[in-house]
Amino acid sequence: MVAPQSDSSPSSTTSHSAASSRTVAVKDMAKLQRRLFEMERAFIVSATTLIPRVGEPELKYLLCQHVWESAGHGRFLRERGRELSGFGQSETIRPEFLKVFNEATVGPDENASLCGFYRVIKPFLLACYEHYLQATHHLADWPSRRLVEEFISDEKRHAEEAASWLESNPTADIWCDHLASTLSLLGGVDGSSPATLDPDFAWTHETVPYRHPETCNRSPYPICSSVFSQDPTETPIIRDWLVDPKTDARVIRVMIYVWLMMELDAVDYLSTVFVETPDAPFDLHHDLARHLWDESRHSQFGFRQLPNLGFDLKTIEHSLDLYNILIHMPPAERYAMMTMEFEVGSFPTKALIMDRIRELNDFEADTLLAFDRNDEQNHVRYGHQWLPTMMKLNGHNEPCLLYTSPSPRDRG
Ligand SMILES: [Fe+2]
Ligand SMILES: [Fe+2]
Repeated sequence: MVAPQSDSSPSSTTSHSAASSRTVAVKDMAKLQRRLFEMERAFIVSATTLIPRVGEPELKYLLCQHVWESAGHGRFLRERGRELSGFGQSETIRPEFLKVFNEATVGPDENASLCGFYRVIKPFLLACYEHYLQATHHLADWPSRRLVEEFISDEKRHAEEAASWLESNPTADIWCDHLASTLSLLGGVDGSSPATLDPDFAWTHETVPYRHPETCNRSPYPICSSVFSQDPTETPIIRDWLVDPKTDARVIRVMIYVWLMMELDAVDYLSTVFVETPDAPFDLHHDLARHLWDESRHSQFGFRQLPNLGFDLKTIEHSLDLYNILIHMPPAERYAMMTMEFEVGSFPTKALIMDRIRELNDFEADTLLAFDRNDEQNHVRYGHQWLPTMMKLNGHNEPCLLYTSPSPRDRG
């Protein structure tokens, strides 16, 4: 019979150290996932500042899509990371990450800022994902590997989708070099490299902090204050006509497509909320990223359909007044106006419009409006869920009296 080994026996020590090295392996990978999670979070907080500054709707749509995909990456990383020992329970973005991503928001012009994100920040994120695949064990960490492989293909697609929007010029090149030098603060692809940044490095955002533009950019399009009025010679949407049973359903279809296209103003003002709430829980930013992407899809409903009906998009004026007004409100008030006023208030009119559009047997229009309505119901729920949190984050102490009755479902 072999005597049981004491805890101090050599084989027991070996077994302990093997166990602890296994734990270290898991913790090391969890640490890498944690870095990736925080970088995706920081990308959402900072890259959303591009949206009101770039002028082309197609580019705004693309940015909304990339931000939403980043939010998806973040959520999967958090879920998988929390299965691993060492990921941590908090969701905060470490200060050095925020510092680098905040710097990316203050490029000298919108093209340079866009180039900074897509030539410097996103390639670094891609390199970190690729490092993860190389560093981890293909079988032991298979669940993570599946996710990371997918995120790598997303990042490569993002680079391709953004490439044609990036203009190469000396201003952008100088800005990208400046931003690239800040990456050393992030410690390389695994976080272990010492920072080589000069301690006297001149951070632009510390002297000239990011500010939202006074008005949003729609550079190729004519602009106006509002697209709604009572005067058909002034604006494309006459509110009374939308609910007048005598109005031809084809006219209503054109008007609702203009209305949907103009939800681009929601894209512009909603995108400003993220950078003002850097301490928000991740789920709040996740849902706002979804809200943002939904509004960009709604705008695309009109943007894609109006040319099919014979309209030249370059002749339709874009409304800026909601952005221009809401940008002067604190972010919680901005989101309250959006969800509890505009969105809640839109259901009765949109329900009448849906009934009229059915007369046309236009399956695509019916489908677009049905999805719009479904999305809008979710947006009102986001408002109910997140406004109290946003109010706390922004130092509002007054009671949060949310619109509760009748419910959006009943109204629509
Ligand atoms: Fe919408
Ligand atoms: Fe909405």
